[in-house]
Amino acid sequence: MCGIVGYTGRKQAAPILLDSLSRLEYRGYDSAGLAVRNGTALAEVVKATGKLHHLADKTDQGRALAGCCGIGHTRWATHGDPSLVNAHPHVSGNCSGSGSGAVESDVVGVHNGIIENYTELKEKLLRRGYTFYSETDTEVAVKLVDYYYKKYKIGPVDAITRTMVRIRGSYALALMFKDFPDEIFAARKDSPLIIGTDEEESFLASDVPAILKYTRQVYYIDNHQVARVSPGKVVFYDLNGDEVPMPLTEITWDAEAAEKGGYEHFMLKEIHEEPAAVRDTLNSMVKDGKIDLSQTGLTEDVIRSIEQIDIAACGSAWHVGMAAQYVIEDLAEIPVRVELASEFRYRKLPLSRNTLVIVISQSGETADSLAALRVAKERGAVTLAIVNVIGSTIAREADHVLYTLAGPEIAVATTKAYSAQLIAADVLAVHLAAVRGTVSPEREAGLLEELAAIPDKISRILEEKDRLQWFSSKMANTHDIFFIGRGLDYAISLEGSLKMKEISYIHSEAYAAGELKHGTISLIENNTLVIGVLTQKELYEKTVSNMMECKSRGAFLAGITTNGNFSVEDSVNFTVYIPKTDEHFMASLAIVPLQLLAYYTSVNRGLDVDKPRNLAKSVTVE
Ligand code: AGP
Repeated sequence: MCGIVGYTGRKQAAPILLDSLSRLEYRGYDSAGLAVRNGTALAEVVKATGKLHHLADKTDQGRALAGCCGIGHTRWATHGDPSLVNAHPHVSGNCSGSGSGAVESDVVGVHNGIIENYTELKEKLLRRGYTFYSETDTEVAVKLVDYYYKKYKIGPVDAITRTMVRIRGSYALALMFKDFPDEIFAARKDSPLIIGTDEEESFLASDVPAILKYTRQVYYIDNHQVARVSPGKVVFYDLNGDEVPMPLTEITWDAEAAEKGGYEHFMLKEIHEEPAAVRDTLNSMVKDGKIDLSQTGLTEDVIRSIEQIDIAACGSAWHVGMAAQYVIEDLAEIPVRVELASEFRYRKLPLSRNTLVIVISQSGETADSLAALRVAKERGAVTLAIVNVIGSTIAREADHVLYTLAGPEIAVATTKAYSAQLIAADVLAVHLAAVRGTVSPEREAGLLEELAAIPDKISRILEEKDRLQWFSSKMANTHDIFFIGRGLDYAISLEGSLKMKEISYIHSEAYAAGELKHGTISLIENNTLVIGVLTQKELYEKTVSNMMECKSRGAFLAGITTNGNFSVEDSVNFTVYIPKTDEHFMASLAIVPLQLLAYYTSVNRGLDVDKPRNLAKSVTVE
C-alpha cells in the first residue's frame, strides 16, 4: 500500500519526511515524492521512481528542499503505471512531465486508497475547465478539493468535507493549501492514518513506525474526519465541519512490532487484511452493482468467441486456477484446463484465437508463469493476466490484465493476494456467464450480492481464530497431514496443504477424497490427521464417508464446514464452522481457517513464519 508522511514544526521538513518514508518501505512501493514549503506561496515538489534512495539522492538527502512544512509519499500503483508523472504529491494546477519543481498551486496533496468514482469526477472537473497530467485517481481528488475551495471560499476544512461527501472509496489524504503555509490538512476513510504531535511540531503518517522516532503521542483520526495540523496542535472536524474532541494515545510498541501493526508476523497481519483486499478488488471490478471489466479491454465479442480456457500458474496461484475452473465451468459452461505453468510451457497444448489463456501471478514476475504466457501468445491464444503488482512483467506482456488490489504482500506464504485472486476469478466467471447468457441478469445480481458479503464473512471467521490457535497447539507435533475434498473442496485442500507445508515444515498432502482408496490410504496410521473440506452440499456425504474410511484406520478427523451442518460432529473429532455463501464462492471462506491453522502451527513450532526456509516470495528463476 502507499505510504503517507507529513511534518510541520521548527525543523527542516525534508530530512524528517525522508526518514519517515524509509520506515514505511515495508509497505511496498514503486515511486516516491515530497512537497515542501518554507512559508511562501510555492511548494517545491520532487519525485523519483524506484527505491526511496533515488529521491533522497535527488534532494541531497533532503537538504536541497528548504522549508519546515511538508508532505511525502511512497506509491504502490493502483491507477496508472509506476511512472514519475503518476507519483505523488499531486497538485491542483499543472505539473511538468518530470513531476518536480516549484509549483504555483492552491492545493498539493498525497493519498493512500482508491477513489472508486474517479472517472465520473474527472469528467465533471474537465467540464469545469480542469486539465489532468496523470492517470491517477489522486490527482482527481486533489483537484476536486481545489474546485470546492475556490467555489465556496470558506476554507480548507469545508472544501475537504464537501469532497469527502462526493467521493466513493477509501482514502487517507494529506493536503497543503497555498494560503495556509505552515499547516497540513488530513482526511480519512478506511485507509490508515495517524497524527503525532509534540510541543512544537506535528507529524502525519500511514502507520506508527514512521514517527515513533519523533513522538509516541498520537491521534488515531477516525473515518469521515478532517484534521487541521499545525506545529504542536491538531484540531479535528466531522463531516459537518464541527470540531470534535479526540483522545491522544501513547504508543508503547517498539519499531519492529509497529511495522506489523501490532501483529506478531506479517502473515497474520496480511490474513487480517483479507477483508480489505477482497473488498478493494471487488470494488475495482463491480461498480453500482454492475461488473465493469473495461480496464481489461476484454470485449464482449472476445468473450463470446472463447471456446476453451487454459489457466497457467504456480503454487497458490495455481490453486486459484484449480478453484476457478469449477466456478467458470459451472456458471459460464466453458471447458477449463488448469496446468502448472512449469508444465504448460513445455506441453504441446492445442491453442487458438478461441482459447483464452489466463495466467495468475501475485508478483507478476514468476519465471515459469511468464514463460507460459509467452508460449500462449506465440501459439495465438488470447491472454489475460490476473496480477497483484501493477506494471509487472506478466502484466505488461499479457494482452489483457486484471489487477487485484491486495496491496504489497510481505510474508512469503501468500494469503491476502490468494484471496484477492480468488474473488477476481469469481467475478470474471460471473461476467463470462452473464455475457454468454448462461446466467440470467437476476442470477448475476444474486451472485454479485453474495460476493459483496464475502469480506464481512471473512471478518467473522477471523473473530473465531482462537479455536484454530487451540487446535494447532494440539496437532503441532503431528508428522503427516492429509487435506481432502471433492470438487471445489479439493481445490481448497490444495491450498490448505501448501500453506501448512511451507511454513510448518510438516509433511502434508492434498487429495481428491475419492482418490484416497486408490493407494494413498495405505499411509493412514494411528492419529494421522485428516482434514476434510466439506462445503459442497452434493459432495458432502461422499467426502465424510472417505473420512470415515480413514478414521477406521486410526486417523484423527477435522472438518471445515458451513454453519448449521452440525451432523458432521457425529463423524469428525474437531469441526470448524464457517458462514454460508453461494457454494461457488466457498473457497474464499474455507481457506481462512486453513491459513490460520498453518500460521499457528508454524508459530507453535517456533519457526520463521514470514520467511520460511528454502523459499522466496517470487520465484524469478526456472
Ligand atoms: C505461496 O504461498 C507461495 N509463496 C508460492 O507457491 C507462490 O504462490 C508461487 O511461487 C507463485 O507466485 P506468484 O503468484 O507471484 O506467481
